[in-house]
Amino acid sequence: MTTNRELYLHQRPQGIPTGEDIRLREVPAPRPDDGEVLLRNLYLSLDPAQRDWMSDKVSYMPPIAIGEAIRSTTLGEVVSSRHPDYQPGDFALGLAANTWADYSCTAGDLLTKVDQEKAFPLHYHLSIFSGAMGLTPYFGMLELGQPKPGETALISAAAGAVGSIAGQIAKIQGCRVIGLTGSDEKGRWLTDELGFDGYINYRAEADLDSAIATICPEGVDIFFDNVGGEILDAALMNLAKYARVVFCGAISSYNTSGPVPGPFNYWQVLARSATVRGLLTTNYVDRFPAALEDLRRWLDEGRLKFAEDVVVGLESTVDAYRRLFTGANRGKLLVRLTDNDSY
Ligand SMILES: NC(=O)c1ccc[n+]([C@@H]2O[C@H](COP(=O)([O-])OP(=O)(O)OC[C@H]3O[C@@H](n4cnc5c(N)ncnc54)[C@H](OP(=O)(O)O)[C@@H]3O)[C@@H](O)[C@H]2O)c1
Repeated sequence: MTTNRELYLHQRPQGIPTGEDIRLREVPAPRPDDGEVLLRNLYLSLDPAQRDWMSDKVSYMPPIAIGEAIRSTTLGEVVSSRHPDYQPGDFALGLAANTWADYSCTAGDLLTKVDQEKAFPLHYHLSIFSGAMGLTPYFGMLELGQPKPGETALISAAAGAVGSIAGQIAKIQGCRVIGLTGSDEKGRWLTDELGFDGYINYRAEADLDSAIATICPEGVDIFFDNVGGEILDAALMNLAKYARVVFCGAISSYNTSGPVPGPFNYWQVLARSATVRGLLTTNYVDRFPAALEDLRRWLDEGRLKFAEDVVVGLESTVDAYRRLFTGANRGKLLVRLTDNDSY
């Protein structure tokens, strides 16, 4: 019998998840039922949204139950299949359908087959070509942000997986782009490597509202928000007339237990005739193929750059996951479970 190591929710986290909340156990590898596929996971995606699913609250997906394996997007190789579209040796990913485990057993209808291409390694399907990195800023910036040449775009968590791509897409559309980030090292990466026009290290600013006003003297036409909280409030004070606020995430509140106040400056949405829209990338699934073509082209043309932060081994997953909330990650955070790094 094959053993499966899996990470499961032992208790609901209070704050940033620890090894007490998420524990490792060994169980027999599952056997697929009719319509299911057994995957040997090669890469796990570590995403802030999983913290939301670890809480017992109403969201766009049900909470992970206590005792259940942690739900995740993973990339795996088919080991056995009882679904007509999948054969052993195929590669597939499940968008929020698999688990943090050596093996995941998933309904084949929830999987997407991916081809091994010469041009890109397989794990790009969990980073730049995924909802967790490329597709979210693609639809968030282009559909909700509606960028126009000469406008100013401000991005929070700008050096992260989503933020770094959102800023570059705004640049491609001819905007002036400013990033908010938590260190000068990350800020210099944004300006020197990715072509952002400026950055603010929010940790070094006593008055973030004034810092944004100084670097965005004409106001902010697009605020692409990954963080919420005080950063959102400071950005709201600097909106230009008819600004668009793209509500992509609110990572500053993911580890809080009680209700969080605010936004305090919500009135500015009315005062600046601004629009705030929530982004759910899965709303655009039917348009993913066309979006992926654009992302591939921009990569080929050298107009899009991205960083991956790859950690090795299932046992490293929880420690690595914490980095999303301390700011220690450097790009899209993945865990590699295979010795073959050519995948
Ligand atoms: N709407 C959707 O469909 C969708 C899809 C994917 C992701 N998202 C959202 O996009 C956001 C970014 O996700 P990601 O995967 O790209 O993560 P990421 O930006 O690569 O990593 C998280 C970053 O957030 C910053 N951060 C963490 N806690 C913070 C706090 N309390 N205050 C300010 N900044 C904080 C840190 O950067 P600094 O060092 O710069 O502070 C950290 O590196 C999240 O809110 C996520 O939920 C939404």
